[in-house]
Amino acid sequence: MTTPRTILITGGAGGIGQGIAQAFLETGNRVVLADSNAEAVHSAAAALGATALPLNITDERAAAAAFKTFEASGGIDVLVNNAGILSVHGAVTDLEASAFRAILDVNIVGTFAMTQAFARHRIAAGGGGAIVNISSIGGRQPTPGMGAYESSKAAVDSITRWAAIELATHGIRVNAVAPGPVLTPMLQQGMPEGSAERAAWANRIPLGSLAEVGDIAPAVVFLASQGAKHITGISLPVDGGQLLT
Ligand SMILES: NC(=O)c1ccc[n+]([C@@H]2O[C@H](COP(=O)([O-])OP(=O)(O)OC[C@H]3O[C@@H](n4cnc5c(N)ncnc54)[C@H](O)[C@@H]3O)[C@@H](O)[C@H]2O)c1
Repeated sequence: MTTPRTILITGGAGGIGQGIAQAFLETGNRVVLADSNAEAVHSAAAALGATALPLNITDERAAAAAFKTFEASGGIDVLVNNAGILSVHGAVTDLEASAFRAILDVNIVGTFAMTQAFARHRIAAGGGGAIVNISSIGGRQPTPGMGAYESSKAAVDSITRWAAIELATHGIRVNAVAPGPVLTPMLQQGMPEGSAERAAWANRIPLGSLAEVGDIAPAVVFLASQGAKHITGISLPVDGGQLLT
């Protein structure tokens, strides 16, 4: 039995965030779900037995204050930067610059603000700890219409390497998990079983199906664990082999 750690998961009210929370809780850890949707985060935290933290990750002052509030109770050991906007789509000839800016603000600047606040928090506590960013294979493989989102995820992989090389000296490891499409409740609604869209995605995946939330969480738990103590700066695809095609 390992010592319980406290894991802060941003976007914790969403499909993948709740799955990651479940996996950490099952392995005996404490979980804080942070999300800008206050109502959703309270109800998800109550259902899972986690702590709710309403937080907009693009607000760097609120991010810093959030870590301060946990100092008295032992601090945060692991940050999972999972919050992200997936919904901005548009061709390079059509997309409004304002829509592009909105996605960059959350996916890149928000990830940076949380990384900075967590790093300062851990350094003040004497170092150690881990960050796992949720990136996407889209950062490495294009799909028409998804370039704004994909650009933001390429930056998340870059932030992962940047933070990893600078924070190694403090014993803080920084890695990412890069999923292919994941069957969250929202995606199942948008692409129902048997739909042409679902079949088109599945055809791009050598292992033949889209990921379930439960396929992503174990990779996150591993990268945050002692078993990964010599791994930093990677972005691990969990994509059924899609990047091979
Ligand atoms: N679902 C997929 O197919 C898929 C594939 C690859 C990567 N991802 C990545 O996984 C992560 C989670 O995706 P999901 O499918 O669970 O999406 P989701 O929309 O279900 O969850 C995202 C959560 O982030 C929260 N959020 C958005 N902006 C925020 C902000 N500024 N501050 C705090 N919280 C904010 C939302 O309220 C929501 O609860 C995202 O980073 C996404 O890019 C998803």
